[in-house]
Amino acid sequence: MKILAVGDIHYPRYAQEFKEALSTLERPDLFLLAGDMINRGAAEEFPNVLDIIESYLGKGFPIVGCFGNEEYSEVRKKILSLVRKRIDILDEQSKIYKINGLKIGIIGTQGSLDKPTNWQRENIPNIKKAFERRADRASNLLRKIRKKADRRILLMHYSPCLETCEGKDLRSFAWLGSKKFYAVVASEQPDLVIHGHVHNSDVHAAMIGSTKVRNVAFPAVGKITELDLWT
Ligand SMILES: [Fe+2]
Ligand SMILES: [Fe+2]
Repeated sequence: MKILAVGDIHYPRYAQEFKEALSTLERPDLFLLAGDMINRGAAEEFPNVLDIIESYLGKGFPIVGCFGNEEYSEVRKKILSLVRKRIDILDEQSKIYKINGLKIGIIGTQGSLDKPTNWQRENIPNIKKAFERRADRASNLLRKIRKKADRRILLMHYSPCLETCEGKDLRSFAWLGSKKFYAVVASEQPDLVIHGHVHNSDVHAAMIGSTKVRNVAFPAVGKITELDLWT
């Protein structure tokens, strides 16, 4: 199964590089978008990202996304109304896709931070609780689809582990990801975790037990991540 995954295009910031990267690729079985596809809540730009993908790869494969911190909460409804028919944005939701004879269960979430940013603390009520609830919710969803899906993918924006943040000052992990999500992944062991948000890491792949973890943030990886799995 050919999976393409990318995050942090921050359209239009990396639009040109994104086009160049897409021009070398072929149509996948599944395309995952790990959040921060737009910049500073500019909802009306989201369809441009999908236009670019379609112009290089065509249609007819599922595109599945989660929200990043740049898809501000107050514009998420607007984003969904603009792109609902072209992409499944899973916001603390799961969906099972039948691809190449396999049932692929995907859970999408923004993820959590150990330490909310100052902005989040000032603007989002009970943010710490909300972050904890997100990890619990992801854990429940992973458990719920365990028997229904042949493979499980956790698609998130923030990182679930330190390993794919290497190259950053690790003391800043609290602003990149969440230890609670690490525990969720370690205990639930989905087959794959895709995340973005970490723009400067040197190490993009890691394992948590038997779970493959990939940071697909475009500024870090410099290309769209290609995975060939479960063949
Ligand atoms: Fe980003
Ligand atoms: Fe981000």
